[in-house]
Amino acid sequence: MGVDKRYLIPPPLHPLPPREGKVVWMKTYFLHPDSIRSLFDNIAPTYDLLNHLLSLGRDFYWRKMAVQELKGLEGWILDIATGTGDVAIEMIHQNNHHRKVFGLDFSEPMIKRARRKVSKKGLSQTITLSLGDALSLPFRDNTFSASMIAFGLRNIVKKEQALSEMVRVIKKDGKVIILEFTFPQKELMRRLYPIYFQRVLPRVGGFISGDRGAYAYLPESVFHFASAENYEEIMRKVGLENVGFQSLTGGVASVISGIKKC
Ligand SMILES: C[S@@+](CC[C@H](N)C(=O)[O-])C[C@H]1O[C@@H](n2cnc3c(N)ncnc32)[C@H](O)[C@@H]1O
Repeated sequence: MGVDKRYLIPPPLHPLPPREGKVVWMKTYFLHPDSIRSLFDNIAPTYDLLNHLLSLGRDFYWRKMAVQELKGLEGWILDIATGTGDVAIEMIHQNNHHRKVFGLDFSEPMIKRARRKVSKKGLSQTITLSLGDALSLPFRDNTFSASMIAFGLRNIVKKEQALSEMVRVIKKDGKVIILEFTFPQKELMRRLYPIYFQRVLPRVGGFISGDRGAYAYLPESVFHFASAENYEEIMRKVGLENVGFQSLTGGVASVISGIKKC
């Protein structure tokens, strides 16, 4: 079998078309864990601002809806690919008496920002943050009441392995939740989406973050998006039951969930 092309890392820089005689170098990112980590290391300082700006503020609503899927679940909840900690914080906002959250991410600059935010909100006693890899979770089997990954799975090639890990570490009757961008179903959104992702997002994202390559990677990654049904299929494959999804904002994002029955 040949090497999966998505694992090949190209040279870290490639030239943009020369403008006014000058060659501008742009970083390129690939769907490889080292490349993805360096992408998030680089954009960490402007991640929150750009998230809110580029989603036109919808990201707050998407996370809120995804976290509502945890209704009735208490004890320790795992937030994988926690980034700057917004999902972890929302988990506590929705139930601050009977929940504790463990947030895990493999990018140190992202986790550092999460730590600062959590401490500013006085939540350091309820939210624990640590560096770690979604593909090999540093926890015993049957530890958590639920595990969630928000906007992290599309950047992971070995999705089945990541989801198997999420299932392994939760208890029986626990829930696995994915919040992810999906390709919209509605006609108007289907037409607007590529324009927005290919023209607007790389320019605004590149300008503010100073890393045009990172925001050029995102639209590409959108076209490799799995549909909510694809995620459902993987969830069933790793043994989850009662699998279902909810479309948000015309299908731009979806919440997919399943329950561990044994
Ligand atoms: C788009 S951000 C999402 C952050 C956060 N969940 C949110 O809703 O804003 C994706 C995060 O996934 C992390 N990530 C990607 N692959 C990972 C892996 N294999 N293990 C741990 N973290 C990973 C990145 O470092 C990044 O912080």
